[in-house]
Amino acid sequence: MLSGPNLSSLGTRNPDVYGTSTLDELVAETALAAGAHGLGIRHLQSNHEGELIDAIEHREDGCVGVLANLGALTHTSVALHDALETLECPVVEVHLSNPAAREPFRHVSVIAPVVAGSIAGFGPLSYVLGVQAIVALLGEAPGTTA
Ligand code: DQA
Repeated sequence: MLSGPNLSSLGTRNPDVYGTSTLDELVAETALAAGAHGLGIRHLQSNHEGELIDAIEHREDGCVGVLANLGALTHTSVALHDALETLECPVVEVHLSNPAAREPFRHVSVIAPVVAGSIAGFGPLSYVLGVQAIVALLGEAPGTTA
């Protein structure tokens, strides 16, 4: 699970837009959803593009999927696009808010071409649905069990 810039401020940051759950609560909820399918999660939040790229590059061998809310870097980072493109496991883009219904600069997702799909606008439920999407995609892949 990757969390981009400013997501560490969830809980107090624009609660009208992002709700009141803290990032720790979202991680716990996501871990619960993953655990129900026998999966564990590793989480990194960073305000730094390079640190997120390093985490993708140095992922653990057992990594079977990536749930990514890259925050504002979603809309700008060609470097994260290129890093995610190297992954063979499913990558699901998630957002608490619905960027398509917000300012025009949020309407473009630079990473969209290299993710399996995107779930946005459902608050914390976006993360639970994201886990379910990864599990479903793993079930479809030959030779994997989820
Ligand atoms: C966000 C949407 C982005 O546009 C914004 O920059 C964020 C949060 C979301 O989860 O709704 O930081 O990714």
